[in-house]
Amino acid sequence: MTVPPLIVAPSILAADFARLADEVRAVEHAADWLHVDVMDNHFVPNLTIGLPVVQSLRAATQLPFDVHLMIEDPRRWAPGYADAGAYNVTFHAEACDDPVALAKDLRSAGAKAGLAIDRDTPIEPYLDLLPSFDTLLIMTIKAGFGGQRFIPQLLDKVRTARQHIASGHLELRIEVDGGIAADTIEQAAAAGADAFVAGTAVYGADDPAEAVRRLRGLAERATTGA
Ligand code: DX5
Ligand code: ZN
Repeated sequence: MTVPPLIVAPSILAADFARLADEVRAVEHAADWLHVDVMDNHFVPNLTIGLPVVQSLRAATQLPFDVHLMIEDPRRWAPGYADAGAYNVTFHAEACDDPVALAKDLRSAGAKAGLAIDRDTPIEPYLDLLPSFDTLLIMTIKAGFGGQRFIPQLLDKVRTARQHIASGHLELRIEVDGGIAADTIEQAAAAGADAFVAGTAVYGADDPAEAVRRLRGLAERATTGA
């Protein structure tokens, strides 16, 4: 399997939940990953979907699942998503007292392991943990709801992480999540992100697949300077 240089991951949080399979198929040939936001009404105030939906959806599409767990006690729940066939399982640093141990569990369950950093959490304490992870998700909003305004200052964390990864020769994706759209994706790409979650910008568009292609084009241009 060739590794795409940039990942665009539509978030189904902004999709029509009554037509979830159709909404996923609408981006099937344009997207790289499907971003699935799991919220438990404890770690964040919002409540979304959980394991049964992910299990059912797994049979409805070929797209790799990028599961973003905004939940408490991820040690208990995260491996279940790996078992359900998720490609990447990301949990929040703020919710886990032993992130390296959970990353190991996820990798042994056959998934990639992701660490998410919320708006108010500094990146520095986690830099030394990155060799245990495949994905670093840097929130560009406060986790919990779609449709929020992108916070450009949070890209400083992306720059810090990108430098650290380059100097340590680490293999790790830097994913940004929150307010990513045509007017923000270029700055995120220029800061060093190489995976882009977009909810409203994809499912709020008349043609979600076209929206994904447009976002990818903008990110590519910002990365290559073309
Ligand atoms: C919010 C979720 C995001 C959300 C992004 O906490 O993690 O993935 O779906 O939605 P937009 O792209 O609308 O900001
Ligand atoms: Zn998310």
